[in-house]
Amino acid sequence: MTKFEVTTLNEFILKSQMELDYKADGGFSHMLHHIGTAARIVNREVNKAGLVDVLGEAGNTNVQGEDQKKLDIIANEYFIDAMHSCGEICAIASEENESFIFFDDEIAKNAKYVFMMDPLDGSSNIDVNVSIGTIFSIYKRVTPEGTQATMEDFLQKGTEQVASGYILYGSSTMLVYTTGEGVNGFTLDPSIGEFCLSHQMIKTPEDGTIYSVNEGNYKKFPKGVKKYIKYCQERDSKTSRPYSSRYIGSLVSDFHRNLLKGGVFIYPEFENAPTGKLRLLYECNPIAYLAEQAGGKATNGEQRIMELKPTSLHQRTPFYTGSKNMVEKVEAYLKKH
Ligand code: AHG
Ligand code: MN
Ligand code: MN
Ligand code: MN
Repeated sequence: MTKFEVTTLNEFILKSQMELDYKADGGFSHMLHHIGTAARIVNREVNKAGLVDVLGEAGNTNVQGEDQKKLDIIANEYFIDAMHSCGEICAIASEENESFIFFDDEIAKNAKYVFMMDPLDGSSNIDVNVSIGTIFSIYKRVTPEGTQATMEDFLQKGTEQVASGYILYGSSTMLVYTTGEGVNGFTLDPSIGEFCLSHQMIKTPEDGTIYSVNEGNYKKFPKGVKKYIKYCQERDSKTSRPYSSRYIGSLVSDFHRNLLKGGVFIYPEFENAPTGKLRLLYECNPIAYLAEQAGGKATNGEQRIMELKPTSLHQRTPFYTGSKNMVEKVEAYLKKH
């Protein structure tokens, strides 16, 4: 590959738009372009964190009851502005906003899509320089164009997603997304300010030797999860056990590592979190779409995540995702105990 054979995000979108004309219509590709722009801006803010006053608490709590970090709010505002200005989105749901945000201007009102996001995932890691991310999910609205979006536009099953993805602000900054035709990863080349195709048609290994769970909650886990964790720790060379425990508390980072290397991510329900901690609309569904498109699985321990019918914007769900065989192994333990 010569040094000029880079495929930028925009070139890739245009190329796939021609191949996917039934789905990636102009508006759709336009949205992905704006996501790339917002990602570069948030990346700039994340990279200067510590030098300028973007670290620490913002001094208020969000609808989740979490202390909002300054970067939670900064990322939220940049993505809301970017997705409003692209003119293809009629309303947005965000982890950081109690209800959805609708836009009153004629262009937005006639737009076809709704956008859901976790603007900054892994906030607890912001101040200690550990990778964080942004997660997004896009649906076609179900209410008539020209009218104001309603909750019905947001409470759609994950199977209705037209696109989902994440940005990972890590050792390098990556944009990973799917439109239902596989998963592609783009790495930001800061020297040219472009996201360049670096991971084409990502396929996640069916098996892996990494398990990701917050073992600090071990005592409160369902019996099947406890049994599975013990299984991971047993010595058995035939199945490459003991596995490695890898968990950094940023869903995007933990998921991305396991997507590429193989592994299982577990956030079960337990007494402090009776329906789990992760949010269905803007964490689990978008990640589930990527997991399945890469050949992996995503369930709530028994049901496919994307089949769950949402009833509220910020509802939570137990979440098991990653390599197919590993997710099925945990499900077998859950079923048995
Ligand atoms: P957010 O920062 O968007 O609120 O999400 C944090 C989530 C997720 O990123 C991570 O996997 C999980 O919280 C970690 O939770 P624990 O600290 O309870 O393990
Ligand atoms: Mn949060
Ligand atoms: Mn999150
Ligand atoms: Mn968040």
